[in-house]
Amino acid sequence: MLKKVSGLTKPLKGVITIPSDKSISHRAVMFSSIAEGECIVRNFSSGADCHSTLNLFKQLGVDIQFIDNKTLKIKSNGKLISSQLPLDNGNSGTTMRLVSGILAGQNFDSVMIGDESLSKRPMKRVIEPLTLMGAEIDSIEGHAPLKIYGRKLKGIIYPSKLASAQVKSCLLLAGLNAEGETTFIEPYTSRDHTERLFNYLDADIKVDGKSVTVKPSKLQAKDIDVVGDISSAAFFIVAGLIVKGSDFVIKNVGINPTRSGILDVAARMSKGVKEGIEIQNSRIIAGEPCADIRVQYSESLKGCVIEGSDIPRLIDELPVIAVLASQAEGETIVKNAEDLRNKESDRIKCLVEELTKIGVDIKETNDGFIIQGKRDKYIQGNAELQCYHDHRLAMSFYIAGLVCKNEIAINGFEWTKISFPEFEELMYKLTT
Ligand code: S3P
Repeated sequence: MLKKVSGLTKPLKGVITIPSDKSISHRAVMFSSIAEGECIVRNFSSGADCHSTLNLFKQLGVDIQFIDNKTLKIKSNGKLISSQLPLDNGNSGTTMRLVSGILAGQNFDSVMIGDESLSKRPMKRVIEPLTLMGAEIDSIEGHAPLKIYGRKLKGIIYPSKLASAQVKSCLLLAGLNAEGETTFIEPYTSRDHTERLFNYLDADIKVDGKSVTVKPSKLQAKDIDVVGDISSAAFFIVAGLIVKGSDFVIKNVGINPTRSGILDVAARMSKGVKEGIEIQNSRIIAGEPCADIRVQYSESLKGCVIEGSDIPRLIDELPVIAVLASQAEGETIVKNAEDLRNKESDRIKCLVEELTKIGVDIKETNDGFIIQGKRDKYIQGNAELQCYHDHRLAMSFYIAGLVCKNEIAINGFEWTKISFPEFEELMYKLTT
């Protein structure tokens, strides 16, 4: 699908409610499926990735019913049943990596497959530590399809080179069903939704700085309300900051500090002159901090450096942060983000190639990119962009289109369905 976007002359105004967090929706279904009892999951994501997780657990014998299009009833005795057919993870890396940790310790074997993009993504990062725990997994040189043989697992202490919530969650899930304690230590703290939800569901888990330890335990089924996704809100946050005259409110956004790096970058770029962002009605929902966010056009954005511990806190937002940086005066440097190359696309290479086509001054580095930004619609536009089957690139390019002088066309825009099918509808709501 070819989507055309032309420079927006009108400001974004009004109020929107951001849909459900993808990371928490995945975990809500996975954890309720291996918990004992019945529960309700409210505000479940309508994105295709979370539906891959849902269908996979149905295939593993869990009773999951829709009460309405966003509410699930999940009933489980905590035990999964082997599937004769391969388990299809679609485009979802979170599903494949986390579910590997669950399947490795079952008393049956499984096969997991994914689409073309997922089959190219590295799975060694979970195969290696799971193997140390006693798992047996066949792969095609570290890629899906994965054949996972059910084995009795033992706990390990795993110092990870990578700050990764997917690897961490995989090991913590394996640890629930292993002999002894499992400890995961990471260089920077990645998103901690698993830790929060394990706590809420009564798992025996202890967090000590960058180290997390789980002891074998049974999760207890409890109702879960999923907050809105800050990674989806990020597209609107950037649009509001860069489209002149914008002033609107985004309701129900998860602001977990391990995910809220985009808010810090916005503050850093406005150097305290005028933040453009106001947090309202802070509250806690199912252990997760949540708030409404008022976004206003910011007059005085300036380039900044994004690195180190910032990276896991905004890893999925970097494509749209590149668009923000193109509108911030001076240089923005993103470093230590090499794992961006392993996302749904090589997000460093693809982002640089495509933004260059429309006139953004962006250079690729090994572990990130450098942008020379300018204010006031300096992006030329006038090009057709590819989104490489990558939902976040598609939506980031749309936001860039709002500040282009000439129309752009985005090829493959339908990939937004992976995480945020409501994107265009909400954009329409703020612009009409
Ligand atoms: C996710 C963790 C992140 C993120 C991904 C979702 C999760 O990946 O990029 O979109 O839900 O745990 P890594 O943990 O591999 O960085």
